[in-house]
Amino acid sequence: MIAADTVTVKVKRRERPAASSYWETFNVPRVPEANVISVLQQIAAHPVTAENKKVAPVAWDCNCLEEVCGACSMVINGRVRQACSALVDKLLEEDPTQIRLEPMSKFPVIRDLVVDRSRMFEALKRVKAWIPLDGYYDLGPGPAMSEAEQELAYPLSRCMTCGCCLEACPQINERSDFIGAAAVSQAILFNAHPTGRLTAHQRLEALMAPGGIADCGNAQNCAKVCPKNIPLLASIARAGRQTTVYAIKRWLGR
Ligand code: SF4
Ligand code: SF4
Ligand code: FES
Repeated sequence: MIAADTVTVKVKRRERPAASSYWETFNVPRVPEANVISVLQQIAAHPVTAENKKVAPVAWDCNCLEEVCGACSMVINGRVRQACSALVDKLLEEDPTQIRLEPMSKFPVIRDLVVDRSRMFEALKRVKAWIPLDGYYDLGPGPAMSEAEQELAYPLSRCMTCGCCLEACPQINERSDFIGAAAVSQAILFNAHPTGRLTAHQRLEALMAPGGIADCGNAQNCAKVCPKNIPLLASIARAGRQTTVYAIKRWLGR
């Protein structure tokens, strides 16, 4: 029997990338308004399982602690989200018996809850998700963005490369080369920028290449799990339109 002032936390663990996963259960004192990161800190301070076995502290990743960096993304009670903004009180409303923590499944596990999100950063490189600058000297203020352009860009700029959209996407797996919704959306963000527009053709070529927009199965899971409510389906639709127009122009030699 677990006391009401105790939280039962089940953690899916793995010692190293090639090792097998296993579950361990910890009972930690319940602290008002705690988040999952503070629960993991409690376990780190006293790494003893519910069976009273002393074990290695659980490894996890975090940085900003305010849902901005995406580093603490993990699967909590079966739903991918950020550990820093997942509050214990809310999680216990979902499941009063326990909190289950698992690493994201679409990325290689490094240890315990720490995964390697390189796949996402490589995808951003593939679509050239940046504004090219011609050096580090003062280039002046640059072209102004209209209000409509700003309204399109701001929601897309909130992406924190957390990986939730890839975790939920049925098209992402070990064998697929699909870049995922986040990179598609970032290509659209930089294509909409007055300076980024000058190199839009490079991003569109990348979106049309293998692993690009054609691999999206339109299952729409990505938009449902994005913690920043980024309009990913609108970005995917825009990417489809932009690549179609670009392909026709390219065919016509314009
Ligand atoms: S719409 Fe579906 S297939 Fe396309 S990126 Fe989103 S989840 Fe993946
Ligand atoms: S689009 Fe949303 S879910 Fe995907 S990486 Fe960016 S913030 Fe995370
Ligand atoms: S620690 Fe940065 S999003 Fe959670």
